[in-house]
Formats: sequence, C-alpha cells, structure tokens
Amino acid sequence: MAKIVILTGSPHNPGTSKQLADAFEKGAKVAGNDIYRFDAGLQGNGEPHFLQLKKEPGMEVGITDHDLVEEEVIPHLIKADVVVLVSSLYYFGINAQLKTVIDRFYNYNHELKDKHSVVLVSGYGTQDDLGAIKLHMQKLQKYMRWPSLGDVYADDSWNQSKLSRFAQQAYEIGKKIK
Ligand SMILES: Cc1cc2nc3c(=O)[nH]c(=O)nc-3n(C[C@H](O)[C@H](O)[C@H](O)COP(=O)(O)O)c2cc1C
Repeated sequence: MAKIVILTGSPHNPGTSKQLADAFEKGAKVAGNDIYRFDAGLQGNGEPHFLQLKKEPGMEVGITDHDLVEEEVIPHLIKADVVVLVSSLYYFGINAQLKTVIDRFYNYNHELKDKHSVVLVSGYGTQDDLGAIKLHMQKLQKYMRWPSLGDVYADDSWNQSKLSRFAQQAYEIGKKIK
C-alpha cells in the first residue's frame, strides 16, 4: 500500500482534468492505496495562499503561513510515497492554483525529495501545445527526484471520447501502484 497525495489545480468543476484525477483516484483505490487529495482550485475562501518571502538579502526565505497548505497538505506530502500533479493547461503552463501549492514546497524542498510521481494534464490544444508544460513538469520531477510512474497529457480535451481514453490510462496508472 502506497501513500498517495493527489494535488489538482483546476477551478473548473466538473472539468476535464478532474476526469483524469477521478479516474486515477479510482484505480489507486481499487489497488488499496492510502489517498489524500487536495483540490487547490476548489477551496473558495480557503484557497492556498501565495508563497511569502522574508525581506532579507541573499537567498529567499519563506515566511511560515498557517493555512491549510501548511497545516494539512505539506504534512501529507512529507509522508507520501507518490505525488500526483493534476493541472489544466493555462497559457501553455501549469494553472496558477496548482502552482501556488507547488511554490509552497519551497520551505520543505529537502524533505520532499525522493518520492515517485504521476502527472495528469488536460488541454484544449494539440500535443505540440502541451510541449512546454510537459518540459516544465519533467524538469520539476527531475529536480524533486520524483521518478515518474506514468503521465497523461490529454490533448483535444473537449473531445469526450478521446478524454475518456486518457482517463482510462490514468485509471490504469493508479491501479498499478501498490
Ligand atoms: C485561463 C485559461 C487558459 C487556457 N490556456 C490554454 C492554452 O494555453 N492552450 C490550450 O490549448 N488551451 C488553453 N485553455 C483551455 C483549457 O486547457 C481546456 O479548456 C482544459 O480542458 C481545461 O481543463 P479543466 O477543465 O480541467 O480546467 C485555457 C483555458 C483557460 C480557462
């Protein structure tokens, strides 16, 4: 049984990346894993705060913030075996809601190293349009030392039959995790 943390970013509900996240979660549950999910884009007033930095010369130092990310999400991430990053494609990149949580990793960079990861992304455009976010995610996975257990980059996201096939791939990735 693996401890899995799913972080989604989309504020669109029900949206297309949600279908990928739901399918992954279903597969991972069937395989008996322990799952914690945080939907950063659906927090309303409790939305994750931006990283704040101390006014000091030299390297950036984060200011500890006592919101849900600090109190709940980060502790789950530290204990996790697998981190799942789920984003919609916004202006060829990660959506801001998910990025807000990723930036909060900063105070815990070291403790968060050496896990495994899965990336699920949906975007309206082509595979070529998904190229920059793919590169960004791959750099992030490498930097965090989070080898990939499988990724889904769902292009043409408003094509429901195509999206269902991508969701099935997400389900299979989840189901393989033990
Ligand atoms: C703010 C915003 C920016 C977007 N930027 C892009 C983009 O750069 N390229 C693209 O192909 N689609 C873009 N889209 C379309 C979304 O990627 C597409 O609707 C996707 O399915 C949304 O996923 P979601 O429903 O999980 O939020 C954008 C949509 C929004 C709302």
